[in-house]
Amino acid sequence: MKKITIAIDGFSSTGKSTLAKQLAKHLGYVFVDTGAMYRAVTLYAIQNNYINLEYFDTESLKADLTKIKLEFQFNPELGFAEMYLNNKNVEKEIRTIEVSNFVSKVAEISQVRAKLVEQQKEMGKNKAIVMDGRDIGTVVFPDAELKIFMTASAQTRAQRRFDEMVSKGESISFEEVLKNVQERDYIDTHREDSPLVMAHNAIEIDNSNITREEQFQIVLDLVNNI
Ligand code: DC
Repeated sequence: MKKITIAIDGFSSTGKSTLAKQLAKHLGYVFVDTGAMYRAVTLYAIQNNYINLEYFDTESLKADLTKIKLEFQFNPELGFAEMYLNNKNVEKEIRTIEVSNFVSKVAEISQVRAKLVEQQKEMGKNKAIVMDGRDIGTVVFPDAELKIFMTASAQTRAQRRFDEMVSKGESISFEEVLKNVQERDYIDTHREDSPLVMAHNAIEIDNSNITREEQFQIVLDLVNNI
């Protein structure tokens, strides 16, 4: 079968990575969660005290960009690749609410975006890839054969993220998660560089009221019809 590029964009917590992972496994493609890369840069900024609630030293972060090495390493037990920041597995640390609260700010910086987009384009140069993020169909792979844009109500998305965090043992309120989802929606859609918009040739899927399996089947049919 012809190898293609699949771009999955959409709002936070719409299940983009879940769908991308399912598709990549089924098709034998590489899966790349670009949000993990923005999260790893954010973790670096937090660890170096460049960002906190009152302050963000963007200049120091920009100056350090060449020192930030991001890599995905496949974990055969989990069946997907995990994020490594400067040779350390940070898959758990990048999923905390602290990182979620700052990541949109970091993702606004054009120099950060340029570095990550370059790396993402390189990863997809041989096709057979499913990449999820916010600007994959618009900026990273404008020529992707299949572009999906995922949406769901903010309430639905916050509930999903809340359930996920509680199951991992994080102590957090639903209101805090909802606030974070709404704030990220606002920043992601309003930033100057590569804001979250649906590519003109993307197919929109609202998964507020469909199951994971139904959604997977819809997209698989789209892949098979290319
Ligand atoms: O998909 P996620 O929630 O893990 O993404 C984390 C943040 O990174 C999100 O708020 C916006 C940003 N992001 C981005 O700007 N561009 C991407 N391609 C992926 C994520």
